[in-house]
Amino acid sequence: MMQTTQVLILGAGAAGLMCAISAGQRKRQVIILDHASRAGNKIRISGGGRCNFTNYFIEPEAYLSNNPHFCKSALSRYTQWDFIALMEKHGLPFHEKEAGQLFSDRKAQAIVDMLLAEIQEVGAQLSLETEIYTVIKTKENQSPYRFQVTTSQGDYLCESLVVATGGLSMPALGASALGYQIAQEFGLSLVPQRAALVPFTLHPQDKAFSASLAGLSINIRAHTAEKSFQGALLFTHRGLSGPAILQISSYWQAGVPVSIHLMPDIDVLKALKEARQAHPKWELKTWLAQYWPQRLAKAWCDYQNWPASVTLSELSNLKLESYAQTIQAWVPNIAGTEGYRTAEVTLGGIDTDELSSKSMQAKQVEGLYFIGEVVDVSGHLGGFNFQWAWSSAWAAGEYV
Ligand code: FDA
Repeated sequence: MMQTTQVLILGAGAAGLMCAISAGQRKRQVIILDHASRAGNKIRISGGGRCNFTNYFIEPEAYLSNNPHFCKSALSRYTQWDFIALMEKHGLPFHEKEAGQLFSDRKAQAIVDMLLAEIQEVGAQLSLETEIYTVIKTKENQSPYRFQVTTSQGDYLCESLVVATGGLSMPALGASALGYQIAQEFGLSLVPQRAALVPFTLHPQDKAFSASLAGLSINIRAHTAEKSFQGALLFTHRGLSGPAILQISSYWQAGVPVSIHLMPDIDVLKALKEARQAHPKWELKTWLAQYWPQRLAKAWCDYQNWPASVTLSELSNLKLESYAQTIQAWVPNIAGTEGYRTAEVTLGGIDTDELSSKSMQAKQVEGLYFIGEVVDVSGHLGGFNFQWAWSSAWAAGEYV
């Protein structure tokens, strides 16, 4: 069976659904294909089931890409306010959690339902459980159709082909490398991919320390030479997680040291000196427990081999300086990351040099578009990745 359509979208995730809406509103005939049994799988589980769908403070600086300017055009044409207006149109309540992060008050499924309702309204057709086998350019005589896509549900001819198959994170949810493969088949270059917004695993000695505290969370500031993030660190059985760690993971590669300030809101040396004056009989772990849970205070002293029974009055300025330094700049021995199994996003992807930032169309292949996470644009934690999916999808939808 051969079906024809003006616009064929591969992937019914955040970007694919939004592109169908945008193109459908222009009265383009749209078909969306996805191999999963449900649309918007990642939306459904995102933000702890409440979908952090955008951020009040969308800014290009919150995105990583080989070309940091590429995202600007799309982000400025379909903004966070446009998505907020869509939520309001459907009467979906939401709230700001912190730092501009907007979450649905209802289950994230409500956002998927909202997008599906919009798709129905514009008459786009959705075909799930559809395996995509091949994508080829049509012959001249098949004009106006530029691409032929062979699938488990038959063949499709389309004028515009939009690749919205996402990144590699969470294969259990349907992630695959299809988008990268299509790009390569059409001669587009890729920026190497790696897992990001992902927990760290630690080498054995640090791992044992972390595992002994699994489930405990404290406020920290994590630094690389390039970037720093303040927020929660969560100790896990295998290493470190929590928002500040996930954020810094996007700037980490093997060999890059990550330094962690474990008391980011205080001047540690000054506080130690004041405590020595005010409470000379205190042991170090008693002082630490003023700022941290007792369990961490004790585990830290054991892990750092700090003397157990020495009182603050017995410690020289030099000693206090070295203890303060350890707290301010802990450099854990990072073994790696938890990888795509748990990563929220994939860094790298279709090289933005290959695409028009206005339309997301491949510069060398007329009618071929790439949107969302498959492109070399990845956001910080906090709703930035969905906003990129909405914005890049909307931009393509205006041209397909
Ligand atoms: P997405 O991955 O959403 O969609 C791709 C679609 O293509 C899927 O439906 C998939 O089944 C389909 N597909 C893939 N390969 C295919 C193939 N071979 N054949 C057919 N179909 C194929 N971001 C954010 O801003 N706020 C948040 O709260 C979260 N939370 C979050 C939690 C978790 C656990 C994860 C893993 C990720 C997030 N994210 C996030 C990131 C966000 O989910 C992500 O950036 C967007 O979903 C990307 O949208 P895309 O449409 O590009 O890909």
